[in-house]
Amino acid sequence: MTGQPKIEIFNTTDELFHAAAEAIAGYLAAAIRARGRASFVLTGGNTPKAVYELLAASPLSEHLDWRQVLLFWGDERCVPPDDPASNYGMAWRTLISRLLIPAENIHRILGELADPTEAAELYENGIRSTFPRESPPSFDLVLLGMGDDGHTASLFPGTTWDEERWVVANYVARLESNRVTMTPRILNAARKILFLTSGSSKASALAGVLEDRTGAYPAKRIQPQSGDLTWMVDKAAASLLRHDAR
Ligand code: 6PG
Repeated sequence: MTGQPKIEIFNTTDELFHAAAEAIAGYLAAAIRARGRASFVLTGGNTPKAVYELLAASPLSEHLDWRQVLLFWGDERCVPPDDPASNYGMAWRTLISRLLIPAENIHRILGELADPTEAAELYENGIRSTFPRESPPSFDLVLLGMGDDGHTASLFPGTTWDEERWVVANYVARLESNRVTMTPRILNAARKILFLTSGSSKASALAGVLEDRTGAYPAKRIQPQSGDLTWMVDKAAASLLRHDAR
C-alpha cells in the first residue's frame, strides 16, 4: 500500500452515495484515458445499489464511455442470475441494463453452477485469459462493502481459503450457504480499492478494521500492495472512530 488508507466521512448516506458515484466515474474515466479501457470489480449487498443507479443516470452516465469498461464481481451468491439474491442480478437491474455495455465486457461469476468450486475455477481461468500478461492482474477499481461482522466480498470471519488462489468457493456456516469470492491475493493487486460503508450497525467493525490491530476482521486483509485504499463512510458508520480519524 502506498500509505495509510484514506477515510472520507459524509454527514448523510445521500452525500456518501453521490460522492462515491462521482469518485467511481472519475477513476474509471481516468483509467480509460490512461490505458484505453477500465476494469471495474463490483460488489454486492445493499449499499451500492443507489450508487449504481447514480452511475447509470445522467449526468454521470455521460462522464465515461461504458463500452470501454470491463465488469467483474468480487463475490457471488450461489444462485441463478435472475434470483433476487444474485449480485450480478442486482448490478444488472441498477446499472448494466441502463447503459451500453457490450456483453463480452461483462464477466459474471456463474452462481448457478451446482459446484461452487467449479464456478470459482472457471472464474479464475476467465480472469487469467482476459489478462494473460498479468499474474494477478491489477484491476483499475475494486469496489467493496463490509458486513457488521467485518466480512468483505465473501471472506467471512472464521472461514479460511487457499491464499494462493485468486477466486475460491467459501462455505459460510452462519448463512448455511456457499459463496464464490475473490481472495486478498487478487484484490490487493488492484490499482484502487474503494470501500463503501454506511449505518451505525457497521460502526464497531469499522473501528475494528481501521483502528484495532487484534480483531479478526477479514476486511483488514484488504491492503493493496501498491495501489490506493479509500474508505468512504457515513457519519453513523464512523461514530466509533477515534476523534483524530474523523
Ligand atoms: C455480498 C457482498 C458483501 C457485502 C457486505 C455489505 O455479496 O453480500 O459483496 O461483502 O458487500 O455484506 O453488504 P451491505 O451493503 O448490504 O451492508
